[in-house]
Amino acid sequence: MRVLLHIDDAETWRDALAERLPGAEIITSDAPAEARRDVDYLAAWKPPAELLREQTRLKGIVNLGAGVDALLGNPGLPEGVPIVKLRDAGMAELIGDYVRYGILHFQRDFDRYRRQQAHRAWREHAVTDKRDWPVGVLGLGAIGARVAATIAADGFPVHGWSRSPKSLDTISCHHGDAGLDALLGRVRTLVLLLPDTRETRHLIDERALAALPEGASLINPGRGTLIDEQALLAALGEGESEGRLRGAILDAFPTEPLPADSPLWSHPRVWVTPHMAGPTPLGEALDQVAETLRAFEAGEPVDTVDPGAGY
Ligand code: GLV
Repeated sequence: MRVLLHIDDAETWRDALAERLPGAEIITSDAPAEARRDVDYLAAWKPPAELLREQTRLKGIVNLGAGVDALLGNPGLPEGVPIVKLRDAGMAELIGDYVRYGILHFQRDFDRYRRQQAHRAWREHAVTDKRDWPVGVLGLGAIGARVAATIAADGFPVHGWSRSPKSLDTISCHHGDAGLDALLGRVRTLVLLLPDTRETRHLIDERALAALPEGASLINPGRGTLIDEQALLAALGEGESEGRLRGAILDAFPTEPLPADSPLWSHPRVWVTPHMAGPTPLGEALDQVAETLRAFEAGEPVDTVDPGAGY
């Protein structure tokens, strides 16, 4: 089988994939056009449209990330070619750590202490017990479910939300519009781990933010499009004094890199990180890629993406 690989540091991926797939010919996308044409499979993260258009007989595409929004929006994507995405592949643990840091940041008042430090103010705040700090996790896919379980194991009550009903140990599961309202009304920190789809775009709008309890906080390691930025800025309010929304830790933005003139950069209660919450760890990802390609070749069932649903 011939596999075309498109990702940063493709040589490292090529060598490691070759070890897992003896006999396969693995070509990196910087190879000359003739050498990379007519491969059987493409394993890629955000491939250029041209790279997709060159291919005439693709049997499958492996998306080297969890979110398929960029791939599904690629104008070169051929119709009808099955797509498989990475599922967790070590990302959930990393994102779980990011989210834990974020929750503790607010629950243990690090945001307030930072502001106090600027004024050399020595003032202790009473600790709110974890058990009184419900956390909401929107999105219970491979990553969301694992992150939710991690937070629950830390001792926080966790409410999870998904489009269709789910049942998970240690998580209070909600679904649908009514379920979302019920969740929003009771969580002190809201974590966004939904895919970018038609249904989820601007899900966190003025109405959703108003449904959160006063002083709630937001963590978004998911997708920037989930949030209506104007509504977010309005809910945060201006200046150092806390608005309805106490603060936001944001890792994903509708335009990345976040434009230099975005008001989010300088907002005193917003923390911006450069889409670093869940980098794809090589080892587990490669195991999944190798297993997927093997299953494709063997004609075995593979867990493909539903392009209509967007995940
Ligand atoms: C990163 O954002 C991913 O979807 O893997």
